[in-house]
Amino acid sequence: MPAKDRYHVVTLPGDGIGPEVTVEAVKVLTAAAARHGVAFDLEEIPGGGEHYLKHGVEWPDGSEARVAAADAILLGAVGADDPVTKRSVFTKPGQPYPTAQLAGYALVIGNRLRLELFVNVRPIKLLPGVRHKVSGRFMDIWEPGQVDYVVCRENTEEAYSGKTHDLTDPEGNVIGRMTPIEVTRKATERVCRYAFELARQRKARGRPGKVTCVTKSNIIGAHKYFEDVFREVAKEFPDIEPDTSLFDAFCMWQIRNPEWFDVVVAPNLVGDVISDNGSTTQGGMGMAAGGNIGFEHAMFEPIHGSAPKYAGQDKVNPLAAILSAAMMADWLAGRFDDARLRAVAADMEAAVAAVMREGKRLTYDLGGDARCSECGDAVRDALPR
Ligand code: IPM
Ligand code: MG
Repeated sequence: MPAKDRYHVVTLPGDGIGPEVTVEAVKVLTAAAARHGVAFDLEEIPGGGEHYLKHGVEWPDGSEARVAAADAILLGAVGADDPVTKRSVFTKPGQPYPTAQLAGYALVIGNRLRLELFVNVRPIKLLPGVRHKVSGRFMDIWEPGQVDYVVCRENTEEAYSGKTHDLTDPEGNVIGRMTPIEVTRKATERVCRYAFELARQRKARGRPGKVTCVTKSNIIGAHKYFEDVFREVAKEFPDIEPDTSLFDAFCMWQIRNPEWFDVVVAPNLVGDVISDNGSTTQGGMGMAAGGNIGFEHAMFEPIHGSAPKYAGQDKVNPLAAILSAAMMADWLAGRFDDARLRAVAADMEAAVAAVMREGKRLTYDLGGDARCSECGDAVRDALPR
């Protein structure tokens, strides 16, 4: 599609710390864009678990159409605890079975399914200047060059189909409940192709050119199918090395030898777990950015969640949200063939790197004492002139 001068972005600040990190991401994004003559028309839609508890709906009527009409979506976080049950799940009214769903489901999982955001791209990259917090102490464990891979998580099915039903014995007695693990050829092929294409692009920039498929294929039949389809897709990419790993062992290797990985592809729930686990090696969840990408739509979000206990304190690390907004600018650059947005993304990343290098205005999780907003200001002020 042709480039535009104004891009329409829907922001979904959501719950907990979502709003405060979204403010910082927007602050840096708009400042970077202005330097390149690009503007964003930002449309904020309220919603999430808190909205559900207050209004009985997760977001206002008509929100589905509004997010679908946007050029891209920027999400903060969702998830709020019910004051009575103290849980972040709720039972959807009118459903025959009490289906436990996260309050705020429509904004996260709902958008992923409805807009067919088939891959959740989660870079695990250690930036210079990050020290790792382990047992409350800061240590140098991994070096930046050793941690640079991208998790491509299947984002529409497997354990996330939203289906749960009673499990019955042959006499029809309810003996439990079950959520199926569903893996289709269509969803597996497209996420695997995305992973191989990405490995090819990275290889052109000097990376090894390898895709590791992570499943529990030795025990879960649907995962064996995922791996079989992965091997078929691999034949379309003879220049890229296909590799497989079992999920349990992979969790250990990604801490011990993160340098082994380049691009990783995994079924939905596996991708959920390994992206959080991998964030340990990039300085924690405060550094972990992500993008839910489809053919027509995309939604970008830090992967850390709503962290209600820190909400409203101007305390948490905004860098994951800022880096997610940079990923959004980069995705828009490709979709609208707009080199200016490529430069916006590069400037935002350079500014984050500069703030890390300087090391003086980092938040508590990285050993600093800056507020969330101070860190965001520092990144904005570090944007290349
Ligand atoms: C994530 C989150 C979500 C998920 C939650 C909030 C439903 O953990 O984006 O990784 O499980 O996908
Ligand atoms: Mg997760």
